[in-house]
Amino acid sequence: MNRSAPEQPTTPYLDALVAYGFRGSSRFHVPGHKGGGGSDPGLLSAVGERALALDISQDIDGVDVGPPPTPYERAELLAAEAYGAGQTWFLTNGATQGNHALCLSLARPGEHVLVQRNSHASVVDGLVLSGGSASFIAPEYDAELGMAHGVTPEALEQALERDPRTRAAFIVSPTYYGMSADIAACAEVAHAAGAALVVDNAWGAHFGFHPALPESPLHLGADAVLASTHKIVGSLTQSAMLHVARDGKVDADSVGRAVRLVRSTSPSSLLLASLDSARRQIAVHGEALLERTLAASAAARAAIDEVPGCSVVGEGMVGRPGIAGWDPLRIVIDVRGTGCTGYEVAGALRASYDIYVELATHATIVLVLGIAQPVEPLQHFVHDFAETVRRISREGREHEIARPQAALEHETVIPLRAAFLGEGETVPVDEAIGRISCESIAGYPPGVPALLPGERVTGEVVGYLRELRDAGARLHGAADPHFETVRVLVE
Ligand SMILES: Cc1ncc(COP(=O)(O)O)c(C=O)c1O
Repeated sequence: MNRSAPEQPTTPYLDALVAYGFRGSSRFHVPGHKGGGGSDPGLLSAVGERALALDISQDIDGVDVGPPPTPYERAELLAAEAYGAGQTWFLTNGATQGNHALCLSLARPGEHVLVQRNSHASVVDGLVLSGGSASFIAPEYDAELGMAHGVTPEALEQALERDPRTRAAFIVSPTYYGMSADIAACAEVAHAAGAALVVDNAWGAHFGFHPALPESPLHLGADAVLASTHKIVGSLTQSAMLHVARDGKVDADSVGRAVRLVRSTSPSSLLLASLDSARRQIAVHGEALLERTLAASAAARAAIDEVPGCSVVGEGMVGRPGIAGWDPLRIVIDVRGTGCTGYEVAGALRASYDIYVELATHATIVLVLGIAQPVEPLQHFVHDFAETVRRISREGREHEIARPQAALEHETVIPLRAAFLGEGETVPVDEAIGRISCESIAGYPPGVPALLPGERVTGEVVGYLRELRDAGARLHGAADPHFETVRVLVE
């Protein structure tokens, strides 16, 4: 990581975009709104003239065309420098695009990868696109809180021993709850088995930019790292970065080809510029901004801990299996002692105070802070949360948390891609038992797929998903979110 390099305070792509966008060139190219002059007045007044003037197409001389390195190329080089990567790509379809590209590069037909079972759905989708085969590794599971954590190096080692042909291991760190895995040990184990380590660090684009945060996975031996820059670091929604390590086990040329395959030929200049400026902000001011945010988080957590029936979880869990570190920008509040579910608390906060949290589960609500978190709303939250809990708490109600899905047996009958692309039919759930699923369905929480394309639908899986649905969990990926029907393969 080289944050103090002389060019880090510059934003070559943003500057080139501004220079073109505001100089009044005659635009006989797309987009058709012509820098705002031809747009619907409603859009113009909603997003403003300046944003529309900067919404330009690809292939503009002096922006992304011209003598190399172009401003666009320099922006990606600066991002690679800031994160300590061998190569970085700006993504305009989120970390989702990065997972698709990584699968296309590392899990080609005939190749095998190992995937943490609670990986983001885009990994499964990437495998459908790429045609490689996969086996799955269960994350550690906290039955008390109904929370999936990371994988342990030991579990990874055993899984790699079972599948010695594995080309790459795809793991997630940190989790949605901010728990990070032991990346250094996972990298050692993967490399010893001849496999590359891919870390989905979608929630950790700020890691490594403050000593109190977990280190960046690139510095702990990961070969490819995905970061959803928009989630915490402040670029615009849908923008992300994919990094490949210098001298690692992932070939940058092959990833570059795959990134181009899943990229639009009209990437949004606004998203790209936001990545360039988010990189500058975190590289130049990240530590100071995080210092303030970390202090605000600590104060808020201490106050929330005082609210009867509530406790903040995270720091105290470090050292448990699958948890090597923790992100204080995630405030996970265990509300079980209030007698209410997290869903109820979140609903009451919304109704009374117009407060929207990132996630509610049976046991918890989860707040996500940004790197430069405005402090005042967090202070208000502490007050409003305490008031809400005081008003709605009731004693003596225990909430059943669905049992760990790790207990479920998964029988893969045909490859993911064949199941997803094969001829399917939609049938009532009870009639699907014994058939092969075309769908991927994960209850959220815990976010671990109970069913993947190509797996046999069992009575046990159906019972588990019904249990989750009835308990209020969302069923991600299910074509029928009410889980009355499911799509299965016509055999
Ligand atoms: C672990 C993980 N990976 C990838 C993604 C996809 O990121 P994006 O929404 O930027 O496409 C998400 C989104 O929530 C995620 O949680």
